[in-house]
Amino acid sequence: MTRTLTLRRPDDWHLHLRDGAMLAAVLPETARHFARAIVMPNLVPPVVTTAQASAYRDRILAALPPGSSFEPLMTLYLTEDTDPDDVAQGAARGLIHAVKLYPAGATTNSASGVSDFDRIHPVLERMAKIGLPLCVHGETTDPEIDIFDREAVFIARTLDPIRRAHPGLRVVMEHVTTSDAVDYVTDAGDSLAATITTHHLVINRNHILAGGIRPHYYCLPVAKRETHRRALLRAATSGHARFFLGTDSAPHPDAAKLAPCGCAGCFTATNTLSILAEVFDREDALPNLEAFTSLNGPAFYRLPANEDRITLRRTPPDHPAQIETADGPLTVFDPGFALNWSVAP
Ligand code: NCD
Ligand code: ZN
Repeated sequence: MTRTLTLRRPDDWHLHLRDGAMLAAVLPETARHFARAIVMPNLVPPVVTTAQASAYRDRILAALPPGSSFEPLMTLYLTEDTDPDDVAQGAARGLIHAVKLYPAGATTNSASGVSDFDRIHPVLERMAKIGLPLCVHGETTDPEIDIFDREAVFIARTLDPIRRAHPGLRVVMEHVTTSDAVDYVTDAGDSLAATITTHHLVINRNHILAGGIRPHYYCLPVAKRETHRRALLRAATSGHARFFLGTDSAPHPDAAKLAPCGCAGCFTATNTLSILAEVFDREDALPNLEAFTSLNGPAFYRLPANEDRITLRRTPPDHPAQIETADGPLTVFDPGFALNWSVAP
């Protein structure tokens, strides 16, 4: 039985770090294990300009534990008024690594996102020209569409037309949850990749709703039926170059999760690597874990893979069930099965 596994240090290609006291509480959880992360821009107000992204990066660096070399990779929140020149300048400076498309109203803090997709063509054209990736929250916001169908409908109605209009545009479909998305990405060429979260490899919709409602498993896109989870698992463990880890670790204090209208998001930064090792081990796919966590992401983002290594040991992890924050406790995602792997200190 494999007892230790050494990997290039992982990166997280989709992370919510928030700001202020929450940033201070959650950043060490990611910086402990990950070298870099694509930092989502859905703050209140959102990060819409290069100047705002630069200031946010400074706040993240200031909140890092002493001695940490964690590198935040900044993104811009796409609005109908985004200035293509500002995006191009941010990318040329090496500050901006992607632009994030939120359909208006699709998820947490997405009210300033895009409603009229015709208005974003100039900025997409510029991004295609300079090779800057577009990260997409792939859910339609049409209230007539069932929430479990919103990803598949978004691909057909919105994403595919955008990609046809901008053939050179490099796109990351974020946090895919369906076999439809896995098939769409698999069948596409090199310009389309997808991130897969930790929690979507673990839970299906029964985990949220059967035997009592479990708000800590509620996230967006919402987990789908088991056949979809199996498709995600196959994609993640296959080693396929265009699927990589984006945890979508999205902290909300328990008071905001355990409410009549609870927030969407699973907080997985603390135990993601233990969970992934367990999941890959069960699939007999540990040899492909490094591709998923540490190689495929940098290759798509045209960055070098990390040179330093982490070691996973077959020892149960020892982490708190909750993190203390200024807004009260924040629950760490519970996969619902025993974890046997931990990251060596
Ligand atoms: C994210 C958040 O809380 O910011 N929530 C979530 O359920 N994933 C937003 C997002 O990525 O959709
Ligand atoms: Zn997210």
